[in-house]
Formats: sequence, C-alpha cells, structure tokens
Amino acid sequence: MTSEVQKAGRPVALLTRQESFSAAHRLWADSLSDAENRALYGPCANEYGHGHDYVLEVTVKGAIDPATGMVINLTDLRDAMRELVVSHVDHHHLNHDVAICKGLNPTTENLAVLFWDRLGTRFPGLLDEVRLRETPKNWVVYRGERT
Ligand code: NI
Repeated sequence: MTSEVQKAGRPVALLTRQESFSAAHRLWADSLSDAENRALYGPCANEYGHGHDYVLEVTVKGAIDPATGMVINLTDLRDAMRELVVSHVDHHHLNHDVAICKGLNPTTENLAVLFWDRLGTRFPGLLDEVRLRETPKNWVVYRGERT
C-alpha cells in the first residue's frame, strides 16, 4: 500500500528534543587577569558562582524511515541527551564537580560545543544543531562549524 508521502526519494526531516537542567557556574578565563575577568564577565565572575535553568534542544536531520515513519526513535535521542549530558551536569557546579567540564570556561558557547561533541558520537552524521538556552533571553546555537 502506498500513501501520499511515498513519492520518489525519501523525505528528509528535522527532529528536535528538549531537555532541561539546572547548574551553577562561574565565568573565568585563565588567560586574563583578575581585573580583566571581573571587567569582562561582571557578576558572572563572582567567586562562588550563580545558577541557571538551562534548556537544551538537540536537532537531528535525516531521511524518514519508510518502515517506521521516523527519522530516529525519539526515545534514543532523549536517552542520549540524558545519559551524555544532563546526568553529568544537572544540579552540579560546572566549574567544580563536573568531570566532562574539567578545564572548560563554562560559557554557553563552550557548553554547546561540548554537548555537540558528546552527542555526535551517538548520532554520527545525523546531528544538525545544538541549541542551549541559558536564560529565556540568551541562547547559543552550534552546528559543528570550526574555522
Ligand atoms: Ni551565568
């Protein structure tokens, strides 16, 4: 039996899953002086850090499997996000007690790249975008580009 969506070629779709986590961080660049850090990051450089309720959105892109009608199983994406990212960072201080963030200045940009790299190992060739929202007004999009 054929349906209206079964034409020549397989349609490609983007599939997104959202997860959230809460974490504390302090923005601090080791290459800068104390005064430069405080001038650059303002209150985000406060010694004991501060918290955010992060929202992570991960998009995969691929052909819709004609057998399942799905790009990938959404539960696989959910599980990967929880296992490779959320379980490591949720309710932790990113500067102090998160092994995957060791040595990282936890800006939203750096976190998005870290999460991309981790998730890419699970979905090679399928990852399209990592969007990390630090606040409802600020977010970063990373799509694997490097200069
Ligand atoms: Ni912050």
